[in-house]
Amino acid sequence: MQAVQAEIAVIGGSGFYELLEEAERIEVDTPYGAPSDTITVGTVGGRAVAFLPRHGKGHQHPAHKINYRANLWALRSLGVRQILAPCAVGSLRRELGPGSVVVPDQIVDRTTGRIQTFYDQGAVHVSFADPYCPHGRTAALKGAAAAGTVATDGGAMVVIDGPRFSTRAESQWYASAGWSLVNMTGHPEAVLARELALCYTSVALVTDLDAGISAEESVSQEEVFKVFAQNVQQLRKVVLETIRELPAERGCGCSQVLDGMSVPLDLP
Ligand code: ADE
Repeated sequence: MQAVQAEIAVIGGSGFYELLEEAERIEVDTPYGAPSDTITVGTVGGRAVAFLPRHGKGHQHPAHKINYRANLWALRSLGVRQILAPCAVGSLRRELGPGSVVVPDQIVDRTTGRIQTFYDQGAVHVSFADPYCPHGRTAALKGAAAAGTVATDGGAMVVIDGPRFSTRAESQWYASAGWSLVNMTGHPEAVLARELALCYTSVALVTDLDAGISAEESVSQEEVFKVFAQNVQQLRKVVLETIRELPAERGCGCSQVLDGMSVPLDLP
C-alpha cells in the first residue's frame, strides 16, 4: 500500500496534462511496469484526488502504446475507487459539433492486439454490458450543469487503434450503425477499471466531426489539438464539479463485480 492515498482519480487525455494546483507528486511502480507518468495527488472539495496524464506529460505515449494495466493498477494501489476519464473524441453525428461535451454510455471496441485483461488465468469474466459507472455518469451530467455546460447524456463511443484517424468509409459505417463518437483510448481503459472493481466514467469532449460526417474535409491532428486547447479550461471545470458530485460511498454494482469469483491476483 502506498503512503499517499486518494479516493478519486482523473486520467487526463490529450492536452489535459494538469488538474490540481497544490499537489504531491508520486512515483508508483506496478507488476505491469510504470504508469504513463508521475501521479499527482491533491484535494478537491475536501476529497483526495489523484491525477494521471494518460499520454504522459509530454504526450510521449500514443494511444496504442499506453500501458493501460499499469495506469489502472497504480491508481488502485493509491486507494482510488472512482475514476473520471476526460478524453478528446471525434463526432459521428453532425448535431454534436466541436466543443460538445458527451457522457457516453456504451463502447464499441475496434482495437486489436491491446492487452485488455488482468486475468490470464482462471475464470474471471466480468459483466461489461454497461461499461460505465451509472452513478459516475449521473455525477458527470450534474457536474457539467454546475459548470455551465449542457452535456449530452449517452451515446456509443467507438474505440479505434489509431494512431491514424478513420477512413471516410469506416467513419460512415460507424455513423450508420448509430454510434456517436470515435476515439483511441476509451478501451481497454474502461474494462481494466471494471476488472479491478473500480467505478469508471468517461467525459468526452468533441474536437472534430469525423471524416464520414464532414464530406469535404478529413480530421487533422492540428485541429484536434487546437479545439481541445480552446475547451480544456471548461472541461477542467466540468471535471472539478463532477468530483464534488461523486458519491462518498459507492452504492453502484461496480464494487461488487468480482464477488463470487476466484480472483487469481492480490488486488492492491
Ligand atoms: N480523437 C479526437 N478526434 C478523433 C477522431 N476523429 N478519431 C479518433 N480519435 C479522435
